[in-house]
Amino acid sequence: MPDTQITTPSPSFGRAMLAEFPLEPGGAYLNHGTVGVTPLAVMRARADLLDEIERHPSRFMIRELMSLGMSAPPKAPRLRAAADRVAAFLGASGNGLVFVDNASSGVNAVLRSIDFEPGDEILIPDQAYGGVARAAAFIARQRGATIKFVELSFPATDASAFVDAIERGITPRTRLALLDHVSSETALVMPLAGMAAACRARGVPVLVDGAHAPGAIDVDIEGLGVDWYAANLHKWCFAPRSCGVLWAAPERRAGLHPGVISWGISNDDWLQEFDWTGTRDPSPWLAAPAGLDFMHDVLGVAAMREHNHRLAWEGAQRLGERWGWRWATPEAMVGCMVSVPLPERLGPADVATAQRLRDALLFEHGIEVPVVVRNGALWARLSMQVYNDESDIERLEKAVESLS
Ligand SMILES: Cc1ncc(COP(=O)(O)O)c(C=O)c1O
Repeated sequence: MPDTQITTPSPSFGRAMLAEFPLEPGGAYLNHGTVGVTPLAVMRARADLLDEIERHPSRFMIRELMSLGMSAPPKAPRLRAAADRVAAFLGASGNGLVFVDNASSGVNAVLRSIDFEPGDEILIPDQAYGGVARAAAFIARQRGATIKFVELSFPATDASAFVDAIERGITPRTRLALLDHVSSETALVMPLAGMAAACRARGVPVLVDGAHAPGAIDVDIEGLGVDWYAANLHKWCFAPRSCGVLWAAPERRAGLHPGVISWGISNDDWLQEFDWTGTRDPSPWLAAPAGLDFMHDVLGVAAMREHNHRLAWEGAQRLGERWGWRWATPEAMVGCMVSVPLPERLGPADVATAQRLRDALLFEHGIEVPVVVRNGALWARLSMQVYNDESDIERLEKAVESLS
């Protein structure tokens, strides 16, 4: 079970919270989901780590960070200690979890480690993140495998229909299912355990793209019944950028390799392989526990999620009412983000219009929010974080209504 049982130190969220973040004043930042904001406390913790490293870089990198076989192994490798802490938060054990730069690296490592054969199918929901779908298509093409996209309804009205759709998409050739935990453009919390169970029942291994899940929703990796879980900590876990994780089930660890092969390959030890992919800055990974501390000690995990979810949920209803559509998504499928359709009068549902509106919202109204095209409509995806409040939704509402 994840280690999230810490109670709230009664924070005051919204504008007052901006004091904890380096965001420039005056704007409405509704895009924590794409590019998370690092809290000042975490930036300081990272700066302290960098100072510590630079006091004796060689000792730190070769003797303290991890075991590279160039010296006696450190008693408590720093990277493993950080991994243990993160793993406990995500319902996993540290020896099943490695750091990667981002969810993309984690997904790519797994895809590259599977010996796909000609005719194999990789099952992917049509709501998958574009970069991840492209990585799967690239690897499939190299091996003569194919991608099978499964259509999931959007707007969503019923989580069990998603499980059924995945089940129906499985064929005797399905070699892997690549499932989101929280989808990107559509911002839906997927019924992942049910989808994974459907795959497992048909002997199909599951790789999860959990880019938006850690921090945003409760994640109990080992309880999900999946094979691999790739995720970001630099979105909703307040780690500095270039901080992601990859977890693998015990039977999936042998033969799992990072994108960059280095010394660890000789030792037949997947943890060493991932822990050293050449000389790089380890400070974002080592600062991940500071992000967890910020969530636990300054915000309170439950209070943070409650605030973010309430803003997203109520914001969607409010904008829905204003803009004339009925909100029918089940509440359990909404976490800290929500995608809302923009009024039709704003123009055709094409990429050029989406770009124009996004630019206008940022440059004319100071609102950073992604605008995407989906199912013949334009959607704004709102990310709600502790520094946001109702006034940001109001500001978006007014700005959209002033656009032509
Ligand atoms: C669902 C999903 N997967 C993967 C990614 C890629 O994340 P990163 O760029 O940190 O690798 C994103 C980015 O927003 C995402 O939304």
